[in-house]
Amino acid sequence: MNGTTADTETRSGSGSDELVFFVNGKKIVERNADPETTLLTYLRRKLGLTGTKLGCAEGGCGACTVMLSRYQTHTQQLLHYAVNACLAPLCSLHLVAVTTVEGIGSVARKLHPVQERIARAHGSQCGFCTPGIVMSMYALLRNNPTPKMADVEEAFQGNLCRCTGYRPILEGYKTFTVEGGCCGGRGRDNGCCMANGSGAEESSEEVVDESTSLFNAADFTPFDPTQEIIFPPELMSLTNCETSASLCFRGDRATWLQPDSLDEFLHLKWKHPDARVVVGNTEVGIEVKFKNMVYPVILAPAFIPELNEVRHTEDGVVFGAACTLSHMGAVLRQEVETLPPHRTEVFLAILEQLRWFAGLQIRNVAAIGGNIMTASPISDLNPVFMATGCKLTLFDKDGSRVVQMDDSFFTGYRRTTVRPQEVLVSIEIPYSKKTQFVFAFKQSPRREDDISIVTTAMSVTFNPGTDVVEDLKLSYGGMAATTTMATETAKKLLGRRWGEELLQDACSSLAEEMTLDPSVPGGMVTYRRTLTLSLFYKFYLTVLQKLRDQGVKAEEVQSDCQSAADLFHPETPSSVQVYQAVPEGRGQDDVVGRPMMHLSALKQATGEAVYCDDVPLYENELYLSLITSSRAHAHILSIDTSVAESMPGVVCCVFADDIPGSNATGPVQYDETILADRQVTCVGHIIGAVVADTQLHAQRAAKAVRIQYEELQPVVTIQEAIAAQSFYQPIRTLQNGDLEAGFKQADHILEGEMHMGGQEHFYLETNVTLAVPRGEDGEMELFVSTQSASKTQSLVAKALGVPANRVVVRVKRMGGGFGGKETRTTVLSTVVAVAANKLKRPVRCMLDRDEDMLVTGGRHPFYGKYKVGFLNSGKVVALDVLYYSNAGNSMDLSLSVMERALFHMENSYSVANVRGRGFLCRTNLPSNTAFRGFGGPQGMMVAESWITDVAQSLGRPADEVRRLNLYVEGESTPYNQILNQFTLDRCWDECLSRSGYQQRRAVVDLYNRQNRWTKRGLAIVPTKFGISFTALFLNQAGALVHIYTDGSVLLTHGGTEMGQGLHTKMVQVASRVLGIPCSKIHISETSTNTVPNTSPTAASASSDLNGAAVQNACEILEKRLEPYKTQNPKGSWEDWVRAAYFDRVNLSANGFYKTPDLGYDFDSNSGRAFNYFTYGVACSEVEIDCLTGAHKNLSSTIVMDVGHSLNPAIDIGQVEGAFIQGLGLFTMEELHYSPQGVLLTRGPGSYKIPAFGDIPTRLTVSLLRDAPNDKAIFSSKAVGEPPLFLAAANFYAIKDAITAARGESGISGPFRLDSPASTERIRNACSDRFTKLCPPAEPGTFSPWSVQV
Ligand SMILES: Cc1cc2nc3c(=O)[nH]c(=O)nc-3n(C[C@H](O)[C@H](O)[C@H](O)COP(=O)(O)OP(=O)(O)OC[C@H]3O[C@@H](n4cnc5c(N)ncnc54)[C@H](O)[C@@H]3O)c2cc1C
Ligand code: FES
Ligand code: FES
Repeated sequence: MNGTTADTETRSGSGSDELVFFVNGKKIVERNADPETTLLTYLRRKLGLTGTKLGCAEGGCGACTVMLSRYQTHTQQLLHYAVNACLAPLCSLHLVAVTTVEGIGSVARKLHPVQERIARAHGSQCGFCTPGIVMSMYALLRNNPTPKMADVEEAFQGNLCRCTGYRPILEGYKTFTVEGGCCGGRGRDNGCCMANGSGAEESSEEVVDESTSLFNAADFTPFDPTQEIIFPPELMSLTNCETSASLCFRGDRATWLQPDSLDEFLHLKWKHPDARVVVGNTEVGIEVKFKNMVYPVILAPAFIPELNEVRHTEDGVVFGAACTLSHMGAVLRQEVETLPPHRTEVFLAILEQLRWFAGLQIRNVAAIGGNIMTASPISDLNPVFMATGCKLTLFDKDGSRVVQMDDSFFTGYRRTTVRPQEVLVSIEIPYSKKTQFVFAFKQSPRREDDISIVTTAMSVTFNPGTDVVEDLKLSYGGMAATTTMATETAKKLLGRRWGEELLQDACSSLAEEMTLDPSVPGGMVTYRRTLTLSLFYKFYLTVLQKLRDQGVKAEEVQSDCQSAADLFHPETPSSVQVYQAVPEGRGQDDVVGRPMMHLSALKQATGEAVYCDDVPLYENELYLSLITSSRAHAHILSIDTSVAESMPGVVCCVFADDIPGSNATGPVQYDETILADRQVTCVGHIIGAVVADTQLHAQRAAKAVRIQYEELQPVVTIQEAIAAQSFYQPIRTLQNGDLEAGFKQADHILEGEMHMGGQEHFYLETNVTLAVPRGEDGEMELFVSTQSASKTQSLVAKALGVPANRVVVRVKRMGGGFGGKETRTTVLSTVVAVAANKLKRPVRCMLDRDEDMLVTGGRHPFYGKYKVGFLNSGKVVALDVLYYSNAGNSMDLSLSVMERALFHMENSYSVANVRGRGFLCRTNLPSNTAFRGFGGPQGMMVAESWITDVAQSLGRPADEVRRLNLYVEGESTPYNQILNQFTLDRCWDECLSRSGYQQRRAVVDLYNRQNRWTKRGLAIVPTKFGISFTALFLNQAGALVHIYTDGSVLLTHGGTEMGQGLHTKMVQVASRVLGIPCSKIHISETSTNTVPNTSPTAASASSDLNGAAVQNACEILEKRLEPYKTQNPKGSWEDWVRAAYFDRVNLSANGFYKTPDLGYDFDSNSGRAFNYFTYGVACSEVEIDCLTGAHKNLSSTIVMDVGHSLNPAIDIGQVEGAFIQGLGLFTMEELHYSPQGVLLTRGPGSYKIPAFGDIPTRLTVSLLRDAPNDKAIFSSKAVGEPPLFLAAANFYAIKDAITAARGESGISGPFRLDSPASTERIRNACSDRFTKLCPPAEPGTFSPWSVQV
């Protein structure tokens, strides 16, 4: 290597090369490609292609998925692959064809079948995730037009949806698969699924008026893969003609150098030893975005042949360092298919790790070299490479060397022995030997697309024909600052026989060797240590079995231990939905009760639906970025903006002094500031903002603002608040009966407690506001993603010091809300409005995911403490319960949330003597707020804990104790509301029979007797959810209906659309009342200048309230049109409208509704709290892995009383979506806070919501038949929130399984299990021989990484 190559950089002088690529078939030539720009920013901001969404900017949600296509000259093949546009550097796209959701179809032009089917199968609710999911499916079909369901599931590993619960997406896309039996419509005449009706499964019950199909696959456009858009021919010839791949792009802060030969690469690396090598950018992209790293020189070696080649040697397979993980997977799979099994043990271990490595979009671009060189302590591949002695070939300009990946390769946190001027060129992965066995395992909070807690690879080689260990390598990730090897333990086991004695010594030795500091980052110390042992045990069993399979005389694996060695293999989910069909004879035009598709679904699937940040940029628009506190509790001593204000593009900073009106804000009490005033009370407290020309400039400048604090002692946790008596007033009490007498009557009294963690809303669209000053009279127009247009209007007006009539708030749609956009949206919209007012220019801000999670709060964590008195029969006779919620640094809606918790403290159980008290803890966390269920789930969760304790302490089946205590018709709640039209018992019985509860119980018990290390659990849980806002005045709604002279109807009501299908239901209501098809009715938006003083779209009551208001308005109009119908009975709707118009009839009407007979008073415990109740019951079965704490959701059966459903597809969508969100709440989602109150989990990388792979394998949802409700519109019932709690069935099924596991260790009786039932909690609760070797550190002797808030 002579170092004289004229490199790209020199050749380009000081200029940039042209970047040529294609987007949706259109050629783009970019002369100023900035190395720091992502494809997503370019698409959305430069090309105005807003169909591709931003959900996280870290590759964790898939909302930004697009397809890239490349022509490979050496193979003459086209490569199509899905990628995350948020991480794809623009500069990496030279000679690439980009296909976005807009490129494959549109409502106006022609829908692509992948767009149409997700919509018609009801797989799009808020629609924010939909374009990404569409593109993942599209990319799959481009590569494989007849995929299997397993392929579909793999394609979606990197996509998240927060609304649908995934089932309808899979159901819709099943029609493309082999299992879906879809022939693309070609067999239309001879038994095609499209002609035969639904793609949904048939119900086992043959009931005539029950329907099980929510869509009709016969309506789908056939899929014809030959009709796909072609790869641009010009691009193919450009690629063929390209003589050199060397490129140079210069930006403001970084230069991108793309060498096209190894020589040039090495020369550049020698010249720029600090240059960052970038291949997939899945690490570097995160560092730049979230760690504020600036890399002035970027080297992109992705097209160097040596770094892409795959070679077979005598010893193994050599992969170029730039080979993607997907490519490596494909090659290794082929090896496994062709080579004898004993040679592919290493490959199988890598494939096992790859199965759970990120999502497909990441694997399609991430390189092997990137994973090694990042040197992350939780890399999933490095343990395998180390345990199996892979060899790395390193080059610098003077030559090369080969190093083995052993325990000396990683020298410290993210450091290796590779020298700055060296690069990694290839890695050799060896074939395994005849007597070698390799095992790899990754344990993470969520199975799919998650980073490891502990990840391991183990390799053992035996003396031929024996079980005597010749060589042993144990490598772990997640147990130190680097991937590490348990060398001491391995050494001790050499020469030993593979048997129980070795196992015992290995475990004792690992417990000593694999230690962690109790304060270690990542926490979970006991769990992580236990995992090192548990995983070794799995390895031990696996090897034992393999030895015996090979005929070696080794110890026998006991039959009850075999399942411990099974690797998790997902099963394709199946589902049944059952609902009452509309009575025969009802006209087809009457759509009420029919499973009509969400009215925006098609637009959402094509990217045409406009969300707030998709509103085109105003000409003089500016962008705002928040300056937030990094301290939980502090005085602000000084703020230095000098650096920030001198940065490029910055226009000004905004602080409290810029607020012309009042800085005091808050949805109920004005106990907050818009911008902090000398004091901050949480991390994330908004102090000010920077306004600049672009988002990037504003964000960079906001990070450059320097703030000095004088720190004060924060109160972070509920326990700290209790100790400090830090509570908001009032402390609510709800009491009924005679508590003392109740406890006296009881045969037994037990006490218990439980903590329930909070939950992040994780709406896919983060908070966003665009404020546009109108230039006169202080008028301001705001486009906001909010559930609360009127509250936004009034708080913005207050901030600006203008009357509310100057402020118009418009809400087209939200990309999800779930309560998170009920009040906390105003923390952003008021700031943006203040900035727009100051500058008299439009200002926009869409929070990044990490900011949104930091600033806006979530579901209240709760701590419940109870004393329960019960009879020998299991009948509960007295209950005294204390609830403490972590309210955060302001009151927000915390009192109402607590009230709802108290209203639900007995869940569905009749308790004669009861007292509940609720304390709102004032802490230094961001204010917690509304979240689907609004305190109800927290209240009921504690109830399910004591009812389980009662059953366990009596040794009785929990379902019997639950059934015994269930309310009956006519009984009264603790707040003296009589239960009429009570259907819970019917739901219970139907759920028992549909789930086959008794048979399942027997099967589960048998399974548990036969398996020591995996256990199954079963639980059936009821819910009774009170419908109405607990604040009386909110139970009102308005509507405005205009009929235009062409007969079209513009409908407006007070509710907002966040995916829950409210607008669709309102159109259905109007359609029925006016007697016209839905196609004549349009809802454009929710706005404060059409329907004033609206209640937030919340409390599940929006269909009830707004539906009745719409009905009222339509009835008024109908009455006005009546005479014209009578005069001309054969006329059309248009005829009547025209006639009325010419007769000078007002064709606009205002509707109004208020819920009658409400008004509960806590002081007197009288008055009706709720209009009615929605009931439901769920039965779930789970399986836990006692060694790792992982669980599988085997089946869930839900029976829900939603009255006469207005739209069964939407209602079932709500049931399933809420249930899966509840599954997240109770089994997975964990917010971690440091003891100083810093939120440590701020994105999908660290905060895991359920993914496609987490849904129950069998899911049945049945809407209770013949259950009219005379309290709401057309006999329907509210459905948005109530089903969420039913996922508690999974939590208590897990607890049931843990009980079985504890039984094996001789432990019985009630035990505390906090929520969520995370892998850590499950593992720790399954106390056994391994956990005993890893006792926790003494509390109080260390400062933990995170605390339970
Ligand atoms: C959403 C998401 C999920 C993820 N999931 C996982 C997971 O499950 N398991 C896991 O282990 N990791 C995971 N990662 C981490 C990451 O994807 C991998 O480490 C990946 O292999 C990095 O490859 P890359 O090509 O994208 O690296 P880049 O970001 O391009 O580069 C990473 C680093 O490697 C260096 N480098 C790259 N190539 C060379 C070379 N040839 N010579 C010298 N230095 C080089 C770069 O300088 C840089 O420092 C995840 C990341 C994301 C964003
Ligand atoms: S925005 Fe790209 S993955 Fe979330
Ligand atoms: S529809 Fe998937 S996130 Fe809303």
